[in-house]
Amino acid sequence: MFRSLRSDSAPKITLTINGQAVTAAAGQSVWSAMVLCGQPVTRRAALSGQDRSAYCAMGVCFECMVVIDGFPNQQACLRQVAEGMTVATQTITEDRGAPDAGL
Ligand code: FES
Repeated sequence: MFRSLRSDSAPKITLTINGQAVTAAAGQSVWSAMVLCGQPVTRRAALSGQDRSAYCAMGVCFECMVVIDGFPNQQACLRQVAEGMTVATQTITEDRGAPDAGL
């Protein structure tokens, strides 16, 4: 479904995406590396748990949040891959507790 437009001569780097070692072209976005290796899910919705992925791919919608090197809320569409980088699908749930019955 997706293919890279970068030439095969671009320098390669190795990163880990959800525990899978992945080779990507230097300068490639984290999101494109995820899609090309078959792992397009960037995060799970806080309330529904629904799988999400990039929508705008240009830094506007924030649908592409991932955990990079242990730091959550990184935009996969804007970050470039780096040697040794670790990327994980982000799952942050919101615990709002019980509704306030006293209102
Ligand atoms: S896909 Fe919209 S901000 Fe990354």
